[in-house]
Amino acid sequence: MGQFPFTRTTTPKAKPADDSLSFGKVTTDHMFLMNYEEGKGWFDPRIVPYGPLSLDPATSVLHYGQAIFDGLKAFRGDDGQIRLFRADRHAQRFNRSAKLMSMPELPVDVIRDSFEALVGVDADWVPRKAGTSLYLRPTIIATDVMLGVHPSHSYLYFLILSPVGSYYKEGVKPVRILASDAHVRAVKGGTGEAKTAANYAQSLSGQVDAEKAGYTQVLYLDGVHRKYLDEVGTMNIMVKIGDEVITPPLAGTILDGVTRASTLQLMRDWGLKVSERPITIDEVMEAGRNGTLKEMWGTGTAAVVSPVGTLGYKGEDVTINGGQTGELTQKLYDAIVGIQYGRTNDPHGWTS
Ligand code: COI
Repeated sequence: MGQFPFTRTTTPKAKPADDSLSFGKVTTDHMFLMNYEEGKGWFDPRIVPYGPLSLDPATSVLHYGQAIFDGLKAFRGDDGQIRLFRADRHAQRFNRSAKLMSMPELPVDVIRDSFEALVGVDADWVPRKAGTSLYLRPTIIATDVMLGVHPSHSYLYFLILSPVGSYYKEGVKPVRILASDAHVRAVKGGTGEAKTAANYAQSLSGQVDAEKAGYTQVLYLDGVHRKYLDEVGTMNIMVKIGDEVITPPLAGTILDGVTRASTLQLMRDWGLKVSERPITIDEVMEAGRNGTLKEMWGTGTAAVVSPVGTLGYKGEDVTINGGQTGELTQKLYDAIVGIQYGRTNDPHGWTS
């Protein structure tokens, strides 16, 4: 934190009990801000008391959604040490999103320094209970005050922190997922690969429909054929059919998930048969019917490794592994969490 100007809050908030944490409802005492202007670059990094931003109603982000974010976590290990999980990879993805949305990139070391500095200042906010962590939400918004549609010339980078528990109200229990033939998340050449606000805004109507029908989330199919699995919006998706683990490839419509990459790496380390290939919903449903769909799970920073107990599609439900968490799903969860909390060794150097 030494390298950034720091104004300490004079009104620290009461910290919630670790037991009460869900996802993203509480924020910490401070935030990191930095501005950008064309011709000047990024300037004025600073850590200040957490509080509202003041924006002119004509600020372009409020109209055209030129905004990106990322999400990563800091964990308090059993040894008391605080570790960030794959901060560099998150910083690189943040820049990839920036590029896709015609926004200025940030030097990776500056992004990392902002993570470390703010977590350092609010270190007391990193919860202690198993399954909890401090979620970091770096964001860039377009701040030109203008109603014309073109890339902004000025931006605000901000980083906020939130102590979190599990993302789904089910905790780590299997969730019910609805494969939607009515809603589409992304097409090639669009924004599906970027972590941008619009992707989440447009997912809401599908989520509302899924919830009304008794499911937790939507599994999106590709936008062209409406038959290949894409992603869940808050998670990448993986299925185990027979002895093959299959996940949709990074082909421009899904997010390059950090937990996706990490679990794929672990499974390859373990010698499992892993395929990043297109897979149709018909193949998955048929495997569900004939008993070869052994396990299904989602991966994400917020969701970690979340078992899918039921998959619905066109009015039919298939139950996976008797609706229970599968053996491989549990093994992946334990392995990721073990590394994050410093309980096991970290063969790939993912924590820092
Ligand atoms: C994450 O897993 O970090 C996400 O961004 C998913 C969601 C909470 C937006």
